[in-house]
Amino acid sequence: MLFRSIRLTLTLWYAVTLAVILVLFSSFFYLTFKRELYLEVDQELLSIAQGIASPTLEPFLRTPPSAFEQVLEDFIGPRIAGKFVQVLDASGKLATASINLQDQRFAVRKQDLLKAAQGKIVYATVGGWEKQPIRMVSYPIIVNGRLAYLVQVGAPMMAAQEMLRKILIVLGVSIPLSLFLFSYGGWFLAGLSLKPVDILTRSAKKITAENLSQRLEVLNPHDEIGELAATFNNTLARLEAVFSRMRQFSADVSHELRTPLTILRGETEVALRWVKEPEEYRAILQSNLEEIKRMSEIIEYLLDLAKAEEGMLRLEFSEVALNDLLNELVTQAKVLARQKGVVLAYEALYPVVISGDRLRLRQIFLNLLDNAVKYTPNGGEVRVVLDSVERYARVAVIDTGSGIPEEDLPYIFDRFYRVDKARNRADGGTGLGLSLSSSLAEAHGGRIEVVSEQGMGSVFTVYLPLPAEAIDVA
Ligand SMILES: Nc1ncnc2c1ncn2[C@@H]1O[C@H](COP(=O)(O)OP(=O)(O)OP(=O)(O)O)[C@@H](O)[C@H]1O
Ligand SMILES: [Mg+2]
Repeated sequence: MLFRSIRLTLTLWYAVTLAVILVLFSSFFYLTFKRELYLEVDQELLSIAQGIASPTLEPFLRTPPSAFEQVLEDFIGPRIAGKFVQVLDASGKLATASINLQDQRFAVRKQDLLKAAQGKIVYATVGGWEKQPIRMVSYPIIVNGRLAYLVQVGAPMMAAQEMLRKILIVLGVSIPLSLFLFSYGGWFLAGLSLKPVDILTRSAKKITAENLSQRLEVLNPHDEIGELAATFNNTLARLEAVFSRMRQFSADVSHELRTPLTILRGETEVALRWVKEPEEYRAILQSNLEEIKRMSEIIEYLLDLAKAEEGMLRLEFSEVALNDLLNELVTQAKVLARQKGVVLAYEALYPVVISGDRLRLRQIFLNLLDNAVKYTPNGGEVRVVLDSVERYARVAVIDTGSGIPEEDLPYIFDRFYRVDKARNRADGGTGLGLSLSSSLAEAHGGRIEVVSEQGMGSVFTVYLPLPAEAIDVA
C-alpha cells in the first residue's frame, strides 16, 4: 500500500540509499579522525617516554621532584608542558613524578603493568582526576633483561574528546538535515520527471469509444514516456480501425438486408391489396423467394465468415483430387460463360491431390470463377491453370476482364467491398465472395493472391498446402 505511488517509492529509495551512504561515510570519517588523533598523541607520548628513558636521564630518575622537573624541561623541551610524568621502580613504588601530578597517581590496570614488566609498551586511556580522561603510555626500562623502571607519561585528552564530541554533534545534526533536504529535492525531481506521465494519464482519460481519433501528445518521442505514448497511440490507431470496420460492417449488413426486405414488403403489400389471380400470386411469391434466397445467402456467408475468422470453422478434411474438382466446376461454369460470350478454358499440367474440405474448396473456386466470368465482358477469355510450386498446390484463375484499379486492390478481400459501388443488383454481388474465399483458403493453411491491371484483366491465384508425403516424393 505504501508503494502505490511511484513518486513516493522513488523518494523513499533515494532517502534510504542516501542515509546509508551518509552514515557509512560519517562513521568512516569519525573513526579515522579519532584514530589519527590518538595515534598522534601516542607518538608524542612515546617520544617523551623514550627521552626520559634514555641513559642520560637515568640518574635523575631518583632525584626529588623539584630537580626532576628542571631536568625534564631541559632535556625534553617545551613539549613537556601539560604532560604528566611518573616513574615507578621495579617493585612498583614511585621513584619520581612531575610536580603537576601533585599527590595524584596514575591508576594503572594490573594487566597493563604485567605487560609492561615483560618489556612491552602499553597505551591506555585512564580516567584521571577531576573526571579528566588521560591518555597514557607505560614505557619499561629493561636492564639486563629485567624491569628496572617504568616510565609513564600522560596527556589530558579533554580537548581532543571535546573536539570529537563536537564533530559528533555536527554530524548528528547535519545528517538528518541534509537527508531531509535531499529527500525533498528527490521528491521534487521525481514529481518533475513523472509530470509527463500525469499529462499522459489525463489525456488518456479523455479518450473514449466516441473520440478514438484523438491521440496522446508525445512530448519527447525519444524518452521512455514518449515511447509509451507512441505505443499507446499505435494501439489506439488499431482500435480505431477495428471500431470503424465494425461500424462499417453493421452499416453494410443493415443496408444489404434492408433492400431485399423492402422489396419483399412492397410486393407482399401489393399482393394483399391488389392481386386477385393465382398466377399473379405465384409470380410474386416466386420473386419473394428470390429475395429470401438472397438474404439467406448473405446470412450464410456472414456466418461462415465469422466462424472462419474466429477459427471455429469445422473443415471435413479428405483427399481431394484438384484436377477432378476443377474440371467439374469449370464444366458447370461453362454454361454461364457461354451465355456471356466468354471463353472458358482449363488446363491441368499434372494431377494434384491435396487434403481439404471438398465443399469449402468448391466454394473458393466457384467464387473466383463466378467473379472472372462476371467481370469479363463479351469476347473475353477466362483460363484456369492448375500446377504446384514448392509446398503448395497452385490454382490460377486468369481473365481478360475489367481488371481492378490499383487503389481498390488492397480492399477487395474486405467484407462487402465492391469496386463499383453503384453497380446495380442485377449483376453486382454483395461483396462477400472474395472475403469468404480468402478466409476459407486461410482455414486450409493457404492463401489467395491477386495481380490485376485495370482494363487488362486479373489473375487470382489460390495456394493450398500439399500433404507432407506429396512433398517428400517431389
Ligand atoms: N476477376 C475480377 N475482375 C475484376 N474485378 C473483380 C474480379 N474479382 C473481383 N473483382 C472486384 O472485387 C470486388 C469484390 O469481389 P467479391 O467476389 O468479394 O464481391 P462480388 O463479386 O461483388 O459479390 P459476391 O461475390 O458476394 O456475389 C468485386 O465487386 C469486383 O469489383
Ligand atoms: Mg464475387
